[in-house]
Amino acid sequence: MRIDIITIFPKMFEPVLGESILKRAQAAGKVKILVHDLRDHTLDKHRKVDDRPFGGGSGMVLCPEPVFKAVAAVKKSGSKVILLTPQGRKLDQSMAKRLAKQKHLIFVCGRYEGFDERIRALADEEVSIGDYILTGGELAAMVLTDVVSRLLPGVLGDKNSLNFESFEGNLLEYPQYTRPANFRSMEVPRVLLSGDHQKIECWRAQQALKRTREKRPDLLNNNNKKKGKSKWTK
Ligand code: ADE
Repeated sequence: MRIDIITIFPKMFEPVLGESILKRAQAAGKVKILVHDLRDHTLDKHRKVDDRPFGGGSGMVLCPEPVFKAVAAVKKSGSKVILLTPQGRKLDQSMAKRLAKQKHLIFVCGRYEGFDERIRALADEEVSIGDYILTGGELAAMVLTDVVSRLLPGVLGDKNSLNFESFEGNLLEYPQYTRPANFRSMEVPRVLLSGDHQKIECWRAQQALKRTREKRPDLLNNNNKKKGKSKWTK
């Protein structure tokens, strides 16, 4: 997959893309991520990307021209252009899975003070990472890059790490433990030490359901409404 990110703050991405799994995934050629400075698509010597809003009001508004140019410079047939904005559809794991099937994603980072409405015409989709206002779309683009990249084939070394994690079948993940079996008098559940894989699987399924009921009952409601029951809620 290729991801192009258009932003006025390209440096913000360096630490995130240059560490850990995203760094390895790029080095291994599983994903190619390119960050573009929107100012490279301006024509004036001040590299101006924003202007005062028509009709008055406070703050500056991102101009359409450099954004249209920046998108045109990277867009090919089959590219999907995504505008990061709090007005977009809220990101969840099923959206991440759908986007991970694309060949080429282009993320356009909006600014907190707003962008010219005509920029929306460029977008195939608008995505929000939650009901709160960030100072710009950059952090949202990083989140989206991360959630999509980790779903690409071969990015997570251990195939099993995708097998049962939170939000699979709309359930939260079961509790995990490692050594020592007794830590400051807190014991690991016995069943996990039993070596009985059927029992362990059953316990994990029950725990996942219990956790979801306690912490995120909304997921179970969504599950029943949208997709029918998951394999653990029969
Ligand atoms: N830009 C500002 N806030 C945002 C949010 N919550 N999601 C995506 N982009 C944003």
